Amino acid sequence: MKKLIIANWKLNPTTIKDAQKLAASVFRRAKNTVVLCPPSIFLSQIKYPHLGAQDCFWQEKGAYTGQTSPLQLKSLKVEYCLVGHSERRQIGETDIQINFKLRTLLDHKITPVLCIGYGTTPEEDDLAVVDILRSQLDVDLQGIDASKIVVAYEPVWAIGIGKTPTSEHAEKIALFIKSKYNVGKVLYGGSANVMTSPAMLAERHIDGLLVGGDSLIAEHFNKIINF
Ligand code: PGA
Repeated sequence: MKKLIIANWKLNPTTIKDAQKLAASVFRRAKNTVVLCPPSIFLSQIKYPHLGAQDCFWQEKGAYTGQTSPLQLKSLKVEYCLVGHSERRQIGETDIQINFKLRTLLDHKITPVLCIGYGTTPEEDDLAVVDILRSQLDVDLQGIDASKIVVAYEPVWAIGIGKTPTSEHAEKIALFIKSKYNVGKVLYGGSANVMTSPAMLAERHIDGLLVGGDSLIAEHFNKIINF
């Protein structure tokens, strides 16, 4: 079955020319479904079959300086939007705000990719992961049809360092999220790269990957989307 592979370019690259070059080097036809999430300022000038945003605001329009509206994303044919990434939670995004964003995105038929995770060290993660995920999901998903949501489980300690939990751990968490919250799809994220991805993708309840660093290296990303 096709898995869903989402590229999170974060604040990269720094020019539209490089962004277009990167997008052009990603295979259009891959074994899996592929979504590119470039910086929002580049979205209108990136050509790729499936596009996602890295964030959006919960209001449609008005006096909200610096925000991006779901209607604006819709007008660019954006189909997915990351919400609640740990790098946004670190600068103050709350679960209540995340809940507003999920509601708005669903209203506009943009598929939200809700990022959850915890633990700045593997030890901390082991102790409290399920409790923390529950506390995030209980608020994030309040009043929401979770079957329409994609959840990305990203242990914070695994992001950007090249190490991951075992695929068995990620599978256990994916099963927990699906069985307790009726979530449609669960992805794994956090150093999902050309080395670590095959084992994650082989797990039954892991429906795909959210890839940061390795999505910027076309040669690696093209392998990941074809595993
Ligand atoms: P990484 O980032 O693949 O570079 O660890 C993933 C993410 O933060 O979404």
